[in-house]
Amino acid sequence: MQLIDTHTHLYLEEFDHDRHEVVQNAINAGVTKMMLPNIDSTSIDSMLALAGQFPSNCFPMIGLHPTSVKENYSNELAIMEEWLAKRNFIGIGECGMDLYWDKSFALEQEIVFRHHIDLARTYDLPLIVHIRDSFNEVIQILKDINKSDLRGIFHCFSGSVEQAKQAIKYGFSLGLGGVITFKNNKMQETLKHIDLKHLVLETDAPFLAPVPYRGKRNEPSYVPLIARMVADIKGITVQEVAEATTANAVKLFNLTTNDQ
Ligand code: NI
Repeated sequence: MQLIDTHTHLYLEEFDHDRHEVVQNAINAGVTKMMLPNIDSTSIDSMLALAGQFPSNCFPMIGLHPTSVKENYSNELAIMEEWLAKRNFIGIGECGMDLYWDKSFALEQEIVFRHHIDLARTYDLPLIVHIRDSFNEVIQILKDINKSDLRGIFHCFSGSVEQAKQAIKYGFSLGLGGVITFKNNKMQETLKHIDLKHLVLETDAPFLAPVPYRGKRNEPSYVPLIARMVADIKGITVQEVAEATTANAVKLFNLTTNDQ
């Protein structure tokens, strides 16, 4: 059984003391591919170092996380663009909007998100979209832009069936992580109405660990717990969940057969 963690921040300092072991544990658990969304200019070096150490397992993306959008956002964007011009990345992100912590840069977050959409289209890459307390704003932007050539993931999706259908309509898959294992999470009901072909798995490690590790450091080796939950909710086998979500991720990130 092969699984893909489509969203992990393994390059962060939470893994400084045991990063290689964590990657090896993931591989041993069948999680052979780990996609690394970037955060800002300060995370690029450690992300690329990890991708360099595990070139067939860890794949870097480039982008500016909405919570890192500050006064200096145009400098940050210039750095992202410079990198995009000089090496391959597997996706654009993490981008989007976060209106949970701090709304003072909401306008800048929107400008930056629109810029990421342009980059995803220019480079034909999937867009990894952060929608914390900002689903409606993000959908409105996609509606305004109205392009049919976008693809990507609504990261950490836990909305209604109606919201899921809107995301899918604009070309996006739904990223399912640890929160679906939390008691009474809304996504458990939504999931019953969404076809497997729209789903990918993720951890968002080191954040949002699934039950029974809730509150502790998350890691990619926990993806099977998420797959198990999806299987239970949909009344199918873990193997079916693994096959479908892995195939979806391979297609979305355009992984070649050699990468698999
Ligand atoms: Ni993230």
